[in-house]
Amino acid sequence: MIITVASFKGGVGKTTTAIHLAAFLQGQAETLLVDADPNRSALGWASRGELPFKVMDQWEAGQNVNPNGNVVIDTPARPIPEDLSALAETCDLLVLPTTPDVLALDALVLTVEYLKKISTNHYRILITSIPPKPSKAGEEVKALLQEARLPVFEQGIRRFAAFQKAALQGLPVYSVKDPRAETGWQDYEKVGQEIVEIMELRALAVEAEDMSASTDFF
Ligand SMILES: Nc1ncnc2c1ncn2[C@@H]1O[C@H](COP(=O)(O)OP(=O)(O)OP(=O)(O)O)[C@@H](O)[C@H]1O
Ligand SMILES: [Mg+2]
Repeated sequence: MIITVASFKGGVGKTTTAIHLAAFLQGQAETLLVDADPNRSALGWASRGELPFKVMDQWEAGQNVNPNGNVVIDTPARPIPEDLSALAETCDLLVLPTTPDVLALDALVLTVEYLKKISTNHYRILITSIPPKPSKAGEEVKALLQEARLPVFEQGIRRFAAFQKAALQGLPVYSVKDPRAETGWQDYEKVGQEIVEIMELRALAVEAEDMSASTDFF
């Protein structure tokens, strides 16, 4: 499967998300992370330490894609909103991280009209860097997005210093020495499981459609 990570705003956790979704998917099938951001943040992450999957730029990746494997694509900050539907068409699922702050939400609101042109089945918003309790920012933003009928992952990613350590050390968060490393990884694992479920449901829907098409024939 091909997962693209994009956002309306910079610094919302795209690269962190791409790294950890690739780590999760690598547990299922060979996974390649394509760093399509000219800042090369994912390649930098990989060069500082060790990751359990390959990271390549888009040029190198072109010749190295395993058709039976997974691909995760990390994109630059701020694609123009029109680009989002084009991006959604070239992948199985577009993951849109957003932080639960006002500026990030303003950017999201501006993009809602464009998002409505994409089938809701084709993208999911991921709330990242959720501040700890007593803040309710994560839950409030999720409720707001759901009210606007936008597809949001059930699981969000909490704000933990372990993620910054992981970036600095070039490791997935579960390999970092930090009391919240495992909890941070579990957040991404749950999101990975949601992605697997979305794909399974979609495959079932396609199968059901094929069946009804073949019975229509007779
Ligand atoms: N869940 C999290 N908890 C704490 N810090 C986080 C979390 N996710 C990301 N960060 C930190 O926030 C900053 C931005 O994250 P990241 O680089 O993943 O965002 P980005 O959207 O890829 O940014 P850019 O638009 O520059 O490509 C980094 O310092 C990263 O370590
Ligand atoms: Mg990035």
